[in-house]
Amino acid sequence: MEEEISELEFYGDSLLLYDSVLIELSSRINIIRKSSVLHNERDPIENVKTRIKSPKSMINKLKMKGLEPKAENIEGNITDAAGMRVICTYIDDVYKVSSILAAQKDINVLEVKDYIKNPKPSGYRSYHMIVELPIYIGDTNKTVCAEIQFRTLSMDFWASLEHQIRYKHDIPSHKMIEAELRRCADEVASVEMNFLTIRDMINSLKENQS
Ligand code: GTP
Ligand code: MG
Repeated sequence: MEEEISELEFYGDSLLLYDSVLIELSSRINIIRKSSVLHNERDPIENVKTRIKSPKSMINKLKMKGLEPKAENIEGNITDAAGMRVICTYIDDVYKVSSILAAQKDINVLEVKDYIKNPKPSGYRSYHMIVELPIYIGDTNKTVCAEIQFRTLSMDFWASLEHQIRYKHDIPSHKMIEAELRRCADEVASVEMNFLTIRDMINSLKENQS
């Protein structure tokens, strides 16, 4: 069997940049969480995951774009070498946390795809933001891109299961299965809306008491 190329072998020096942009963004997210708690607010975030795109999928993506599969071709062509997933508690937390990050002066938002307002035909929901920010390595700095996917627990639940189902079983697309997955996405979204309503009811009861 052919050995898979390692991250360092494929990305070379740029691996440090992609690692660093994820460290930087993780730290900003942590500060948002700490600040909420300090101000006696609810922590809007459940968990955060980061990943560097595997050399195998990066090579495929570059080839699909008609580019030679080497790390030098990523810059200017591919924006999701570094990826972060921010799992929020409720939908309003998604918009709150993403807008706090977007408002930070050195973060430049290059693109937003709101698959919550406009879900994908698959049923997929999430709020995607492509950002770029300066990364300091020693005394030099470079602007580095990352893709941040903001979603709620229920959107993550659906996306994880759908991803597993789609990738584990290499079968051609099937209309009935696709319709079922879309139905599940809608049901999960509707359960989430119910939770939101209950949360707001409890909050207004608390306000009336005080
Ligand atoms: P890519 O070439 O995959 O980056 O597509 P794109 O540039 O059109 O980006 P898009 O914002 O549509 O989606 C990028 C990422 O979102 C994917 O790598 C997945 O992580 C996630 N995603 C998009 N659509 C789906 C979907 O139908 N199901 C699941 N589970 N994830 C999805
Ligand atoms: Mg993408």
